[in-house]
Amino acid sequence: MKILVGNWKMNTTPEEGISLLEKISNLLTNEVVGDVRVVVAPPSLHLIPSVEKLWENPEIAVAAQNCHHKDSGAFTGEISPEMLLNSEVDAVILGHSERREYFKETDDLVALKVKAALKHHLIPIVCVGEKLEQRKSGTFLNDTWTQLKIALSDLSPEGLADVVVAYEPVWAIGTGEVASPDQAQEMHAFLRGKLKETFGTGELPILYGGSCKPSNADDIFAQPDVDGGLIGGASLNADDFLLLVEKLRKS
Ligand code: 13P
Repeated sequence: MKILVGNWKMNTTPEEGISLLEKISNLLTNEVVGDVRVVVAPPSLHLIPSVEKLWENPEIAVAAQNCHHKDSGAFTGEISPEMLLNSEVDAVILGHSERREYFKETDDLVALKVKAALKHHLIPIVCVGEKLEQRKSGTFLNDTWTQLKIALSDLSPEGLADVVVAYEPVWAIGTGEVASPDQAQEMHAFLRGKLKETFGTGELPILYGGSCKPSNADDIFAQPDVDGGLIGGASLNADDFLLLVEKLRKS
């Protein structure tokens, strides 16, 4: 399954967000999208207008960028998976390295969120990836697998079937320094092998994220174990996002 997710992060006012979505929606016709599943993840404030805007275009699904693991309660500032489901949001990005770094999210917390998302029929897009020092020290493969193993611990085979994995090396996020196609392929194949060994299936989609843009996407999407992309900066430009959808479709 080919999947392209645009993570807008904390960008766009509500007005700018809807205008960007309008451009994306106009460009991404059924023909352009083909067999690619396209997802946009705008800021939380824009989720409901985005869902409503996309009633006109069933080719594009909507994801949140985070959620709490409880259904409701005294958790000021948080959004629950139940609220997302009731707002007709389809998926949620969990464990992004920015959440881990700036908001101190741990592997165990990410695991709770993954379970909560699945309980509410949201597709969890589970992010993992090593920091530069882990890449340099050579522990990056096992360190990234440990993140993923914990995030997916105790999932049933049915739950696992709905999970999307995103490999995002922290050193490549927003830096302009993209992982080489070989580096991406090495990690994706490693994670797939470990998933198979541990959970009995390696069939989960594994997306690459980190400075992926039209100028470098062809070689990355051509890798056999890369099933798509989790795109930050380039997803804020409708034309670039369109090009990425086309490149993934043709890969
Ligand atoms: P960039 O594409 O801006 O490097 O961001 C990647 C990312 O973090 C997507 O979640």
